[in-house]
Amino acid sequence: MKQSGGTDAQKRHAGESAADAVSDGDVVGLGTGSTAAAAIRALGRRVDSGLDIRGIPTSYQSRQLAREVSIPLTTLEDETPDLAIDGADQIAGFELIKGGGAAHAREKLVAAAADRMLVVADETKLAETLDVAVPVEVLPDAVPVVDSALSALGGVPELRSAVRKDGPVVTDNGNLVIDCEFGAIRSPDELATDLASFPGVVEHGLFIDMADEIHVGTDSGVEVLCRDAR
Ligand code: A5P
Repeated sequence: MKQSGGTDAQKRHAGESAADAVSDGDVVGLGTGSTAAAAIRALGRRVDSGLDIRGIPTSYQSRQLAREVSIPLTTLEDETPDLAIDGADQIAGFELIKGGGAAHAREKLVAAAADRMLVVADETKLAETLDVAVPVEVLPDAVPVVDSALSALGGVPELRSAVRKDGPVVTDNGNLVIDCEFGAIRSPDELATDLASFPGVVEHGLFIDMADEIHVGTDSGVEVLCRDAR
């Protein structure tokens, strides 16, 4: 499922650009995946130089990396994020598909709580229309029911299998993930509403109306797309 064609340099350019947008005193949502990891490393370097921030991780991966680079951590219980920095699997306009790393439930929670969401991505993530499989995190008991509902909606669902573990991927929240192909998604907002309505669905990977800035890493630098400038 995970598809990430960009280079390390492109991801680093995107991550550093978003990390530069963080100010002293900010509480920062720390996304998951290789591009968000580049941003976390860049934030760690700024913390080393004296930047005073707290991070709210979205996964075991981002928590572990944040600890490695000495970013002080906090929780949604204690503080509200000023901004969230996170990657994406595909971007069309300002709509996203996320969840290639099965972390989209917490990523959406943190991004929704934040005042601003900064997306970091290499240029291979940009598309005219969203058309990669949509990850759907489901309660383990709900798999057959949600599978049928997704098929009835015209999707082609497939339970995500683990790598280096027999059986399915189990998320950080103890749930399973169904990746569902819908072909070209012409009305992402309608699909998002449908997916959210199925009992047993914990969260789906369509992020509608959430991204404020997209930091696109290229070989030579970064292009920042701002929603206000649309
Ligand atoms: C994690 O579940 C995802 O939402 C990631 O943010 C997304 O898959 C992007 O990851 P990469 O930056 O590694 O492509």
